[in-house]
Amino acid sequence: MLLALAPMQDVTDLAFMRTLLRIGSLPDYFVTAYFRSTATNCAYMETNLGCIVENETGKPIWAQIAGSDPAAITRDIETLLKYPIAGIDLNAGCPSPLVNRNNAGAGLLRDFPRFDAILKAMRAAVPEGQLSVKCRLGWIDAAAEFEHILDLIRSHNPDRVAVHARTRKQLYGGTPLIDYVRDAVRELSSCPVMGNGDIVTVEDAQHWMSYTGCAGLMIGRGAVRNPFIFRQLHGGAAPTQDEMRNYYLILIEETGKVLYAKRTEKGHCNRMKKYLSFIFPDLDAQREYDLRRCDSIAQMQRLLTM
Ligand SMILES: Cc1cc2nc3c(=O)[nH]c(=O)nc-3n(C[C@H](O)[C@H](O)[C@H](O)COP(=O)(O)O)c2cc1C
Repeated sequence: MLLALAPMQDVTDLAFMRTLLRIGSLPDYFVTAYFRSTATNCAYMETNLGCIVENETGKPIWAQIAGSDPAAITRDIETLLKYPIAGIDLNAGCPSPLVNRNNAGAGLLRDFPRFDAILKAMRAAVPEGQLSVKCRLGWIDAAAEFEHILDLIRSHNPDRVAVHARTRKQLYGGTPLIDYVRDAVRELSSCPVMGNGDIVTVEDAQHWMSYTGCAGLMIGRGAVRNPFIFRQLHGGAAPTQDEMRNYYLILIEETGKVLYAKRTEKGHCNRMKKYLSFIFPDLDAQREYDLRRCDSIAQMQRLLTM
């Protein structure tokens, strides 16, 4: 089973990658959060490039691009291929209204001619074996849309496809529609398909693998909540309470290192809260309340290890 950390802007960052390395629970590969390609520039360059050039995990990292202009995407691919990446991934799933306004991210799923042109340009610019696509099931209605999305993706022969089993309309809620991932595995037979969406436990992972036949799993929020999921799915033990406490402390430390010169106590706490929102389901209501209001790192350490 191939395992990937799902890209999450501002969450699966260098600090989180280093934390996974230190706790000894690594996925088989990483994908950066999206580089935003527009006609005028490529945004999020600094933080995302940091994940690539400072990747000490020994695991490959793919660079993800979100955009709607084939020329701009080709320009940014040329730049990114100069760095030590495993390949380029197209973001066809981001539901942010700002990104979708220009039909980038999941917006590509409602603009097939543009999606087609972008995949064509990417296939021409990216070497064999290094092109990946991450998509949702459609803009609104998976039953009406996903088959066409698969036809279009298949016609450009990508080397890997990750399917977040939701439509854009579902955003991050509702039940993942896992049957469509099984369809993707069948329809894209020559290309490994990664399943993605609400995989939190070993049992979830086993169900996804046996039900869909996918090549592997991409895990995001579940990995922030329990980063030991990669160790477990590679055959290792479930985390002890001490290991979980240690995880929180390491994450605080690594986040502080990445913030470095820009670090203020409050800024550091706010940065931590981006991860904590995915950890709250495992904490009692009082601790969640206190952590949400916390602006001292010492207090945050205490609250997370009590
Ligand atoms: C805060 C946040 C940021 C995200 N950023 C990205 C991103 O940059 N690129 C991307 O393809 N998906 C992004 N996603 C979607 C995740 O990669 C993933 O598809 C989604 O969270 C479902 O998987 P999960 O249930 O395992 O988290 C983001 C999700 C969240 C919650």
